[in-house]
Amino acid sequence: MPGYIKSPMNYTGGKYQLLKHILPRFPANISNFVDLFAGGLNVGINVEAAAIYANDQITYLIELYRLFQETPTQSLLQAIKDRIAYYDLSQTNADGYYKLRTEYNRSRSLLDLFVLTCYSFNHQIRFNSAHEFNTPFGRERSSFNGSIEQNLIRFCDALQKKNILLSTGDFREFDFSHLSQGDVVYCDPPYRITTGSYNDGKRGFRDWTQAEDADLFSLLDRLNGQGICFTLSNVLSHKGQTNDALIEWSKQYNVLHIDKTYANCSYHFKDRQARTEEVLITNSAWKAP
Ligand SMILES: C[S@@+](CC[C@H](N)C(=O)[O-])C[C@H]1O[C@@H](n2cnc3c(N)ncnc32)[C@H](O)[C@@H]1O
Repeated sequence: MPGYIKSPMNYTGGKYQLLKHILPRFPANISNFVDLFAGGLNVGINVEAAAIYANDQITYLIELYRLFQETPTQSLLQAIKDRIAYYDLSQTNADGYYKLRTEYNRSRSLLDLFVLTCYSFNHQIRFNSAHEFNTPFGRERSSFNGSIEQNLIRFCDALQKKNILLSTGDFREFDFSHLSQGDVVYCDPPYRITTGSYNDGKRGFRDWTQAEDADLFSLLDRLNGQGICFTLSNVLSHKGQTNDALIEWSKQYNVLHIDKTYANCSYHFKDRQARTEEVLITNSAWKAP
């Protein structure tokens, strides 16, 4: 997709492929934009706004973006290439990968964390309960290749040029007091009825349950009452499971079905069994295009 910046993190649940559906949901001339569950930051990095707030509970991720923001890109690239050469990393050298992983878990160097994600299985970023990086090696698949390098360069360039304010913490603790009417909050939380490596409850970070869904719905209702625009990415059904609380709550807002075949058919139970019904839910603070 020419034009859009792709996160170098190849993040699980990353929204790069869906940007063409998501970005048109946002109004023009945004003052403050919040990417509340930033993850790979695919959405926030592509938004034009006077201020872009990027928040996630994974502290290491946000600290890594801070490193990208503060380090001249050419120095960063050189440092990455030095680490790759030092550990002789390749798509086949598992030994080098595990040596670097051990070193990262001792030093917690952010640069090493990024290099690990380039060579890890499916480029996943995953920690155990002691916050040790534990993704296995991505044999024959993962490496710091030309496309990750190009994505990294464009990502860092945007991080350095745009006014991106990074924060780390639970979404319930985010300070919304500086937002006013017409500002935009984008939410891409873990989906309660699917499981990502960041929400299976075994990763040292807070799990995502029905209570989190309920708190998020209340927060979005409150923002709606203040005239703040929101867009929520989620799934109504997945592999035979439905998120009934989400379906009920969404009825008061605009629901856009990302899966075009769904948009054109009625919702037979049979369909819900088979497919993932992915949606964008927006409030009516502005007119959906
Ligand atoms: C689906 S991912 C976001 C992907 C992102 N939109 C992208 O395009 O790369 C969801 C993110 O929510 C974060 N998260 C989970 N629970 C959270 C919480 N209680 N507060 C803040 N962030 C949370 C996870 O760490 C994860 O990075």
